[in-house]
Amino acid sequence: MQERLKELQQEALEAIQKATDLKALNEIRVSYLGKKGPITEVLKGMGKLSAEERPKMGALANEVRDIISANIEEKQQGLEAAAVEAQLASETIDVTLPGRPIQTGNHHPLTRIVEEIEDLFIGMGYTVAEGPEVEQDYYNFEALNLPKSHPARDAQDSFYITDEVLLRTQTSPVQARTMEKHDGKGPVKIICPGKVYRRDSDDATHSHQFMQIEGLVVAENIRMSDLKGTLELFAKKLFGEDREIRLRPSFFPFTEPSVEVDVSCFKCGGHGCNICKQTGWIEVLGSGMVHPNVLEMSGFDSKKYSGFAFGMGVERIAMLKYGIDDIRHFYTNDVRFLKQFQVKE
Ligand code: PHE
Repeated sequence: MQERLKELQQEALEAIQKATDLKALNEIRVSYLGKKGPITEVLKGMGKLSAEERPKMGALANEVRDIISANIEEKQQGLEAAAVEAQLASETIDVTLPGRPIQTGNHHPLTRIVEEIEDLFIGMGYTVAEGPEVEQDYYNFEALNLPKSHPARDAQDSFYITDEVLLRTQTSPVQARTMEKHDGKGPVKIICPGKVYRRDSDDATHSHQFMQIEGLVVAENIRMSDLKGTLELFAKKLFGEDREIRLRPSFFPFTEPSVEVDVSCFKCGGHGCNICKQTGWIEVLGSGMVHPNVLEMSGFDSKKYSGFAFGMGVERIAMLKYGIDDIRHFYTNDVRFLKQFQVKE
């Protein structure tokens, strides 16, 4: 019996040694130390022993059990530690690897110009107004003093959808819409950016779709000098403190008098260069005093109220400011072009 117990101990220790995972180890525990295991089996034969030998055999059986159990315990700890090691090794992060750069976009150059101009006018108490791109003939032309037969309609060749609905050719209809909402009460002070459409053949300087920014002020005692002061400030902020402006007589059906506004060339300072076509001046916008007919049609008393309006092409401003030579760059969206306008914030 003693030998059998020693044999079992030997067998069990060998099996423990060979076990490679916790599952196998557990099976060994159950098979050697369980109630139906061989040690229990051996102890069942104790009845046949003498009273002297019985306690000795009992003590030996307990010793064998303890040895097996202690070995299992030790092996288990070893296996568990190895499992943790293996997991740590497989999940190691190499913190010295360089990271992958995250691709970020940036504002479109036109958005930048629009925001810059908006900020400037918001700072002077203007609010930003918007209107529909699919517009009624009434707001795009008639309410702006261009009745159906007016020859100046030809200057803005339009995309008509029906006889009365078109893609707006200018942002000026937002003037008419905003004034109408004011119910004849001033002051009105708005800046209005947006897309406009004209039937033009696309080339380096023409596009069938482009952006305009319109400004409108209607209040009591608004004079031409207010318009001039406002535009002078605008030119200095956008193109540099040394800029001057020049007003040339012009014609728009919705303003009287009307002026074309030039800015002194920011490249040559007025001496003449390729940008200003040797004139020293660059044309940037159209403007004038709001025509009394326009005020009246939108519900304002033209004896009490007066106003000024101006409108400019955003692409043209961006082309001048950033030295861009082809308007098509703005909408063909070549990333190499757009990336040049990345600003580090
Ligand atoms: N709407 C005019 C254009 O598209 C520009 C303009 C706006 C002129 C406001 C005067 C006043 O040419």
